[in-house]
Amino acid sequence: MATERTFSIIKPDATRRNLTGAVTKMLENAGLRIVASKRIRITRHQAEGFYAVHRERPFFADLCGFMTSGPVVVQVLEGENAVARNREVMGATNPANADAGTIRKELAESIEANSVHGSDSLENAATEIAFFFKPEEIVG
Ligand code: CMP
Repeated sequence: MATERTFSIIKPDATRRNLTGAVTKMLENAGLRIVASKRIRITRHQAEGFYAVHRERPFFADLCGFMTSGPVVVQVLEGENAVARNREVMGATNPANADAGTIRKELAESIEANSVHGSDSLENAATEIAFFFKPEEIVG
């Protein structure tokens, strides 16, 4: 098994409800190590760039509005098969479809306010990490 790094966002619905620690605990309990973390307000420009792959989707404007509606915590997670492991502990995009014990099933409010983002591939993880972090901000 390979040690990987993946990218995570604790979204505004979770920071608003003071769930940063609860989410982090679930990530750590899943065997993921937080090697970089910062609480920020993302700009509209950043949100539109980060989610550019979804720009033709009907939910794009709402998604960017939501992601800029409050603080987020951007993180780099490290561990064995970190990309897949993170997606497993996050659960399905829509919390209604997520398995019991996952972050989205236990904590998320809706498909939009779904508490966490996680990279869907190792390639996208590298791109997303570089979008928010300088190499020297990542301390493994
Ligand atoms: P995320 O993993 O951050 O990647 C894209 C986001 O778009 C996704 O989580 C959801 O929060 C959001 N999303 C996906 N599908 C829909 C939808 N049908 N309606 C609203 N938001 C959506």
